[in-house]
Amino acid sequence: MTHNNPEYYAANQVDQDPYDVPLESIDVANPYLFAQDVHGPWFKRLRDEAPVHYCADSFFGPYWSVTRYEDIMQVDTSHEIFSSEPAITLRDADEDFPLPMFIAMDRPKHDEQRKVVSPVTGPANLRYFEPIIRERTIDVLDHLPVGEAFDWVDKVSIELTTRMLATLFDFPFEDRRKLTYWSDVSTAIPGMGLIETEDERRQEMLVCLEFFTGLWNERVNKPPANDLISMLAHGEATRNMPPVEYLGNLVLLIVGGNDTTRSTMSASVYALHNNPQQFDKLVSQPDLIDSMVAETIRWQTPLAHMRRRAKIDTELGGQQIKAGDKVVMWYVSGNRDERFMEKPDDFIIDRPDVRKHLSFGFGIHRCMGNRLAEMQLRILWEEILQRFKRIEVVQEPERTISSFVHGYTSLPVVLHPHHA
Ligand code: HEM
Repeated sequence: MTHNNPEYYAANQVDQDPYDVPLESIDVANPYLFAQDVHGPWFKRLRDEAPVHYCADSFFGPYWSVTRYEDIMQVDTSHEIFSSEPAITLRDADEDFPLPMFIAMDRPKHDEQRKVVSPVTGPANLRYFEPIIRERTIDVLDHLPVGEAFDWVDKVSIELTTRMLATLFDFPFEDRRKLTYWSDVSTAIPGMGLIETEDERRQEMLVCLEFFTGLWNERVNKPPANDLISMLAHGEATRNMPPVEYLGNLVLLIVGGNDTTRSTMSASVYALHNNPQQFDKLVSQPDLIDSMVAETIRWQTPLAHMRRRAKIDTELGGQQIKAGDKVVMWYVSGNRDERFMEKPDDFIIDRPDVRKHLSFGFGIHRCMGNRLAEMQLRILWEEILQRFKRIEVVQEPERTISSFVHGYTSLPVVLHPHHA
């Protein structure tokens, strides 16, 4: 069964040694394992002892965990066996308030809708965006306090990704923090911070829909433009969508472009602070920025998992999976699989095959914004290296309480400019 009590996980498991818990009782969906950054040894145990593992009871109901690189690849690319419907996170879709979105659809509807919006992150648009992103990055960096502590998550990671998102939607710039808020609300677990109940989430999401409906109505009567709302309003496969499907796809694009890139921006600062030799390597060889960005995306794995549902009875890693079972691909574990790479827990900016990580997924749902995210990160680091000789992390970060969004809620830093 699925449990409704938000206290379900509070004191559970987190302080225990994973090797003291019977294998069958392990439940890696516990959001506190991630918030307290202790999930690593739990996944290592599963990879070694039960790479396709059944958890019979959890807050999210029963589910299978797939934790090795090769098995995850197999699930992610076997679309005829594993469905993305009706939801791609452990949390089930709200039956009274379903939010259809193309990441949680199978073929052919997925392909038709993805085709409508994919040009927004295509090569031509990326060329168009590059100078805009650089200008905004410079503006944010040049207005940061120097020599005193501030929160990198709020002042840089959130600010830059929100500006980018506002650009993709051609969203009123002064209202851009609404996007951050709706992104956070849509992934929050009721009772664990931002919202108290599912009902509250619905109310907030309806406010989001109302705002975006105003923008749709403006654009649908104008010639097609390059922003996401115009693309949806004019696209053949999307222009007659019911309002909830418009909302669902908005949530997808807001969360897709927001939390993930935000976490990577914070992770890059944190990882380079804790690995000064890697930072020195980057300073002496700035052409390693692209590779450092890919390594950060692997090392952080901004989305810890994607979930599928078995369409038919099937076998995986010697386990019998039944039609209807939830199957969770833990990218956060596959990216640390010792069978797939050497020293997976280390942050090594010039790793061979650095882009072969799982963080963007594989198959028909492979991330649509990966090139855009990498470009944002590259520009950020090109501009950081011009200005600062060091970004010092002065306090351990606080982390998101979630087993889906793997990120940071605060990261206090002090900047040390080249010419102090
Ligand atoms: C470092 C940053 C990012 C990470 C780690 C990330 C990760 C992911 C993952 C894991 C998936 C699902 C893959 C699968 O199921 O196989 C996905 C899909 C998606 N991402 Fe990203 N993403 C990032 C940035 C972005 C950005 C900037 C956008 C903005 C447009 C975006 C838009 C999407 C969309 C629309 C999908 C759904 C694709 C589909 O279902 O066909 N992502 N992303």
